[in-house]
Amino acid sequence: MITLINEEIQNLSDQECIARIRAHKERLGRELLILAHNYQRYDIVQLADYYSDSLDLARRGREAHEAKYIVFCGVHFMAQTSRVLAAPHQRVFLPNHLAGCPLSDFAEIDQAETAWEEVTQYTGADNVVPVAYVNSTVLIKAVCGRNGGTICTSANADKVFTHYLSQGKRILFMPDEHLGNNTAVKLGIPRDEIALYDPAKENGGLAPEAIRRARVILWKGHCHVHTNFTPALVDAMRQRYPDAVVLVHPECPEATVRAADLVGSTKFMSAYVEKAEAGKTIIIGTEVNHVRNLALMNPHLRILELSRSLCPNMFKINLRNLLYTLDNLGEVNEVFVKEDVRQDALKAVNRMFEIA
Ligand code: 13P
Ligand code: SF4
Repeated sequence: MITLINEEIQNLSDQECIARIRAHKERLGRELLILAHNYQRYDIVQLADYYSDSLDLARRGREAHEAKYIVFCGVHFMAQTSRVLAAPHQRVFLPNHLAGCPLSDFAEIDQAETAWEEVTQYTGADNVVPVAYVNSTVLIKAVCGRNGGTICTSANADKVFTHYLSQGKRILFMPDEHLGNNTAVKLGIPRDEIALYDPAKENGGLAPEAIRRARVILWKGHCHVHTNFTPALVDAMRQRYPDAVVLVHPECPEATVRAADLVGSTKFMSAYVEKAEAGKTIIIGTEVNHVRNLALMNPHLRILELSRSLCPNMFKINLRNLLYTLDNLGEVNEVFVKEDVRQDALKAVNRMFEIA
């Protein structure tokens, strides 16, 4: 579905768009819930009822019983998750259906089903749990739900991993190798018990023995926004700002995480900034809009980009397609998920809420 914006909206100024969006919010009251991910541009974040990380937004949507219309300013998998959690009286909208997530696209449904068959033929299905990063399509979440697994976000991956590893289970983690690897390393899993499954190869390119030995099987996939951050960039910024603290997102490669001072979800970054003393220099390695928003909202701090890395998909949401969605509420940009898929994905999402 392509989002069309009419010529009238195209010609409005930003201020006119904002005024009309505010008027819709006033008219609809609590029937309308606008959720925005931290990577949304400043104007959008300012108009949202809540802006936060993936975990928090999933919770907010679930708790907002009065909302009939949930407009999700983020990328497609986030709106799908919101749809999975929505009650029958709630409808979910994404202002631009072209706002996908290349990381989530690393795991396709047939590849995930093949991987599950290949891995379980060596381990047995009782000894391994499929866990999808929330940055995955609803079909991948449904595979996890159907097979006794769950999902996690960057904010609770360690809790979810610990839950299963402490029961002696292996984890098949899709589709971000870096979040999976950083979590496994943080939990002290030895390197020879972490395997990397490449869906383009038979058995993921792994020998049966490597699959049996692995406690965490990672999926070959990454976020291009976060693999831009290198240890060399951290070193260069430290030289310029020796007193700075460096925060990075766990989608960054392990070497970058090691070079940084702290690692955590976008909400973790916001919480750190909130508590920081005036004048502190904080260098942040994540999507540029989150860094900019934090800098704009906290002028008493010096908040700097580790380097400029934009998520072009998050950026596809703007004032004009948000206004268009609200002008035509209920008629455009709705997110649908097939009911059987939704039910399976819901099992996975609910297990996450039980665990973490
Ligand atoms: P958070 O869950 O930390 O908000 O991150 C989501 C995301 O897409 C990171 O690239
Ligand atoms: Fe996906 Fe990366 Fe954009 Fe997050 S920053 S939505 S993981 S492409």
